[in-house]
Amino acid sequence: MQKLIEAWSGEAVVARYDRAAQAWMFIAIHDTTLGAAMGGCRMKVYGSPEDALRDAMRLAEGMTCKWATVGFDLGGGKSVLAVPRRLEGAEREGLLRRFGRLIDSLRGAYACGPDLGTTPEDMAVIAQETAHVHGGTRQGETADPGPYTALGVWAGIRAAVRHTFGSNELTGRSVLIEGVGDVGRPLARLLHDSGARILVSDIEAERAGAMASEVGGEVVAAQDVYNTPCDVYAPCAVGATLNAETIPALRCRIVAGSANNQLSRPEDAEQLYARGILYAPDYVINAGGATALPLLGRGEQTEAQIRDRIAGFERALEEIFSEAAAGNESPLHAAARRVERVLEARRRERWPER
Ligand code: PHE
Repeated sequence: MQKLIEAWSGEAVVARYDRAAQAWMFIAIHDTTLGAAMGGCRMKVYGSPEDALRDAMRLAEGMTCKWATVGFDLGGGKSVLAVPRRLEGAEREGLLRRFGRLIDSLRGAYACGPDLGTTPEDMAVIAQETAHVHGGTRQGETADPGPYTALGVWAGIRAAVRHTFGSNELTGRSVLIEGVGDVGRPLARLLHDSGARILVSDIEAERAGAMASEVGGEVVAAQDVYNTPCDVYAPCAVGATLNAETIPALRCRIVAGSANNQLSRPEDAEQLYARGILYAPDYVINAGGATALPLLGRGEQTEAQIRDRIAGFERALEEIFSEAAAGNESPLHAAARRVERVLEARRRERWPER
């Protein structure tokens, strides 16, 4: 853990061991140039507390990029609850409430929301202990970021398809969705409604089967995800599925999905570029939930306005793809430059003497 923290580019880490649930709580605060840290809370079984902390750190960094990209005055942060096994009922509620108290003790330095392994219902439990939580309830209803994230990914896929095939028409395009959870499911429906041919894969075979029959798609076995021919591969589950082993096997033209940290290392973007596969930078295409949550919380915009803003990711990604093509580089570079411009402008405003 010492090495991890020493090597990290972020600002701070909060760590607590929760004896009652035998769980580790980590809150990683990456960059607060734009504002207080906000980001989802992931609950998962990890191989070690170090793995959990590493995940929190990488995810927090992704949030810094995400907020800068969508233009919100928020900083990059993320939390991880590393549980010994899947927790349910009173045990789960207890852990979430104690986590809520930890968040509250930070007095707004970090605000949370749902992420992989947590739900809007979990956020409602956390909300009993702190106000610094999003996506719990909206006038008594739960505000689920999943469908908003899916909308952004759908818009991003259209941009990628246009850049690659000359038109954003999705009819007949094949999209392989890896992970039909909170984002993958609404994404499959949107794509199906646009005429795309859907291939589905999920670690839970039953879930994959149910989704495939709903949209008239096909199930792809987990071990075949990376070598199945398709137009678009949409990673919508865990991160790092793009790595030195999978990239050479890919038989898609486009990678565009909702997972955070899709690349195992930033250099993987170069590998994709060398293979002629268009990569939609994860923190740009998956920012729909992050766009919706703060706006829903403020309650100033209508549902239609929020959806319009997210549909605008199509334009943003088209620009990123064109800029990258003009510079003969991966879209990740174009996206990263945008992030750096936003952060640098704010640094100059806030600390002009530096
Ligand atoms: N966890 C999701 C994401 O990474 C949604 C979310 C965004 C949750 C922002 C909290 C804050 O985009």
